[in-house]
Amino acid sequence: MKIAIGSDHGGYALKMELIPVIEKLGFEVTDFGCPDEKSVDYPDIAFPVAEAVADGRFARGIVVCGTGIGVSICANKVRGIRCALCTDETMARLTREHNDSNMLALGGRIVGTELAKAIVSTWLTTEFSKGTRHIGRIGKIEKYEA
Ligand code: RB5
Repeated sequence: MKIAIGSDHGGYALKMELIPVIEKLGFEVTDFGCPDEKSVDYPDIAFPVAEAVADGRFARGIVVCGTGIGVSICANKVRGIRCALCTDETMARLTREHNDSNMLALGGRIVGTELAKAIVSTWLTTEFSKGTRHIGRIGKIEKYEA
Protein backbone atom coordinates (compact mmCIF):
# COMPACT_ATOMS: atom_id res chain seq x y z
CA MET A 1 0.00 0.00 0.00
CA LYS A 2 1.35 3.42 -0.98
CA ILE A 3 1.23 6.13 1.68
CA ALA A 4 1.63 9.88 1.08
CA ILE A 5 2.89 11.87 4.05
CA GLY A 6 3.41 15.58 4.57
CA SER A 7 3.93 18.12 7.30
CA ASP A 8 4.52 21.77 7.95
CA HIS A 9 7.35 22.92 10.22
CA GLY A 10 5.20 22.23 13.30
CA GLY A 11 4.87 18.59 12.32
CA TYR A 12 8.24 18.05 10.69
CA ALA A 13 10.02 16.39 13.64
CA LEU A 14 7.15 13.97 14.27
CA LYS A 15 6.84 13.16 10.56
CA MET A 16 10.52 12.19 10.44
CA GLU A 17 9.98 9.82 13.39
CA LEU A 18 6.93 8.28 11.71
CA ILE A 19 8.37 7.54 8.26
CA PRO A 20 10.62 4.62 9.37
CA VAL A 21 7.76 3.19 11.45
CA ILE A 22 5.46 3.17 8.42
CA GLU A 23 8.18 1.60 6.26
CA LYS A 24 8.80 -1.08 8.89
CA LEU A 25 5.12 -2.01 8.70
CA GLY A 26 5.73 -2.79 5.02
CA PHE A 27 4.24 0.30 3.39
CA GLU A 28 5.85 2.47 0.73
CA VAL A 29 6.04 6.11 1.88
CA THR A 30 6.43 9.27 -0.21
CA ASP A 31 7.21 12.50 1.62
CA PHE A 32 5.47 15.56 0.13
CA GLY A 33 7.51 17.93 2.35
CA CYS A 34 8.29 20.14 4.08
CA PRO A 35 11.99 19.24 3.92
CA ASP A 36 13.13 20.86 7.17
CA GLU A 37 11.90 22.98 10.09
CA LYS A 38 11.78 26.26 8.15
CA SER A 39 8.36 27.86 8.38
CA VAL A 40 5.89 26.92 5.64
CA ASP A 41 2.13 27.28 5.22
CA TYR A 42 0.30 24.03 6.03
CA PRO A 43 -2.19 24.36 3.09
CA ASP A 44 0.77 24.18 0.67
CA ILE A 45 1.50 20.68 1.96
CA ALA A 46 -1.92 19.34 2.96
CA PHE A 47 -3.69 20.03 -0.34
CA PRO A 48 -1.13 18.16 -2.53
CA VAL A 49 -1.17 15.16 -0.16
CA ALA A 50 -4.98 15.09 -0.14
CA GLU A 51 -5.18 15.44 -3.93
CA ALA A 52 -2.72 12.57 -4.36
CA VAL A 53 -4.99 10.35 -2.24
CA ALA A 54 -8.21 11.60 -3.85
CA ASP A 55 -6.95 10.92 -7.39
CA GLY A 56 -5.81 7.41 -6.49
CA ARG A 57 -2.04 7.83 -6.73
CA PHE A 58 -1.81 6.89 -3.04
CA ALA A 59 -4.06 4.61 -0.99
CA ARG A 60 -3.83 6.72 2.18
CA GLY A 61 -2.37 10.00 3.39
CA ILE A 62 -0.95 11.23 6.67
CA VAL A 63 -0.58 14.94 7.41
CA VAL A 64 1.06 16.54 10.43
CA CYS A 65 1.11 20.15 11.61
CA GLY A 66 1.44 21.70 15.05
CA THR A 67 -2.07 20.82 16.19
CA GLY A 68 -3.21 18.64 13.29
CA ILE A 69 -6.17 20.98 12.89
CA GLY A 70 -4.97 23.10 9.96
CA VAL A 71 -3.96 20.13 7.84
CA SER A 72 -7.19 18.27 8.62
CA ILE A 73 -9.30 21.28 7.63
CA CYS A 74 -7.46 21.46 4.30
CA ALA A 75 -7.59 17.73 3.59
CA ASN A 76 -11.33 17.55 4.26
CA LYS A 77 -11.97 20.24 1.62
CA VAL A 78 -10.74 17.87 -1.10
CA ARG A 79 -13.58 15.78 -2.57
CA GLY A 80 -13.31 12.12 -1.61
CA ILE A 81 -11.13 12.73 1.43
CA ARG A 82 -12.20 11.62 4.89
CA CYS A 83 -9.42 12.90 7.12
CA ALA A 84 -9.50 12.03 10.82
CA LEU A 85 -7.61 14.05 13.41
CA CYS A 86 -6.70 11.49 16.07
CA THR A 87 -5.19 11.93 19.51
CA ASP A 88 -5.39 8.33 20.69
CA GLU A 89 -5.45 4.75 19.42
CA THR A 90 -9.18 4.30 20.00
CA MET A 91 -9.96 7.19 17.65
CA ALA A 92 -7.54 5.70 15.10
CA ARG A 93 -9.25 2.30 15.25
CA LEU A 94 -12.80 3.64 15.22
CA THR A 95 -12.25 6.07 12.37
CA ARG A 96 -11.00 3.20 10.21
CA GLU A 97 -13.82 0.85 11.27
CA HIS A 98 -16.64 3.41 11.05
CA ASN A 99 -15.56 6.21 8.71
CA ASP A 100 -13.18 4.32 6.38
CA SER A 101 -10.94 7.39 6.76
CA ASN A 102 -8.39 7.65 3.99
CA MET A 103 -6.31 10.34 5.68
CA LEU A 104 -4.95 10.74 9.20
CA ALA A 105 -4.03 14.10 10.75
CA LEU A 106 -1.74 14.40 13.75
CA GLY A 107 -0.55 17.30 15.90
CA GLY A 108 3.20 17.29 16.32
CA ARG A 109 2.87 19.64 19.29
CA ILE A 110 -0.04 17.70 20.81
CA VAL A 111 0.75 13.98 20.81
CA GLY A 112 4.01 12.46 22.01
CA THR A 113 6.17 10.49 19.62
CA GLU A 114 5.40 7.02 21.01
CA LEU A 115 1.66 7.67 21.09
CA ALA A 116 1.78 9.01 17.53
CA LYS A 117 3.60 5.86 16.38
CA ALA A 118 0.90 3.71 17.99
CA ILE A 119 -1.87 5.83 16.42
CA VAL A 120 -0.29 5.48 12.96
CA SER A 121 0.25 1.72 13.33
CA THR A 122 -3.35 1.19 14.44
CA TRP A 123 -4.76 3.43 11.71
CA LEU A 124 -2.73 1.73 8.95
CA THR A 125 -3.58 -1.82 10.02
CA THR A 126 -7.28 -1.52 10.91
CA GLU A 127 -9.79 -2.45 8.20
CA PHE A 128 -13.09 -0.71 7.50
CA SER A 129 -15.85 -2.76 9.18
CA LYS A 130 -18.01 -2.64 6.02
CA GLY A 131 -21.08 -2.52 8.25
CA THR A 132 -24.23 -1.59 6.35
CA ARG A 133 -24.95 1.40 8.60
CA HIS A 134 -21.41 2.76 8.12
CA ILE A 135 -21.54 2.29 4.35
CA GLY A 136 -24.85 4.17 4.31
CA ARG A 137 -23.43 7.09 6.31
CA ILE A 138 -20.37 7.38 4.10
CA GLY A 139 -22.72 7.26 1.12
CA LYS A 140 -24.51 10.33 2.52
CA ILE A 141 -21.17 12.19 2.71
CA GLU A 142 -20.41 11.24 -0.89
CA LYS A 143 -23.88 12.34 -2.01
CA TYR A 144 -23.36 15.71 -0.31
CA GLU A 145 -19.96 16.12 -1.97
CA ALA A 146 -21.38 15.32 -5.40
C1 RB5 B 1 2.12 26.71 12.71
O1 RB5 B 1 2.66 27.55 13.66
C2 RB5 B 1 0.79 26.15 13.18
O2 RB5 B 1 -0.18 27.14 13.11
C3 RB5 B 1 0.40 24.95 12.36
O3 RB5 B 1 1.39 23.98 12.46
C4 RB5 B 1 -0.88 24.26 12.73
O4 RB5 B 1 -0.94 23.98 14.10
C5 RB5 B 1 -2.13 24.87 12.24
O5 RB5 B 1 -3.23 24.34 12.43
